[in-house]
Amino acid sequence: MILVGRPEDIPLGEAVRLEAGIAAEVPIAVFNVDGEFLAIDDTCTHQDASLADGWLEGCTVECPLHAACFDLRTGMPSGPPAKKPVRTHEVLVVEGLVYVRVVEEAPVETAA
Ligand code: FES
Repeated sequence: MILVGRPEDIPLGEAVRLEAGIAAEVPIAVFNVDGEFLAIDDTCTHQDASLADGWLEGCTVECPLHAACFDLRTGMPSGPPAKKPVRTHEVLVVEGLVYVRVVEEAPVETAA
């Protein structure tokens, strides 16, 4: 598991980015959605943009580069230009600290 920090380190409606190489092979973004923590791969599947820098609305993050939206619970994009989902990761709060358990599998893609 990757230690993210204390819950108060991730403000409501914002995200923190875990850089690649700390414990995961790729950057991970951890979002605080109304007090619930959700984690996805940070890099947009369209081009090289950080989703942690995107705009959060409900359980969806909008990519800051070309505005594709990703569901934080499923990783699925809601429409173009992104076509592939991002991976979602398990988040646990243990003894007052937030951790991410990185899912190793590729995301499940559904036919459009
Ligand atoms: S880089 Fe994210 S939509 Fe293009």
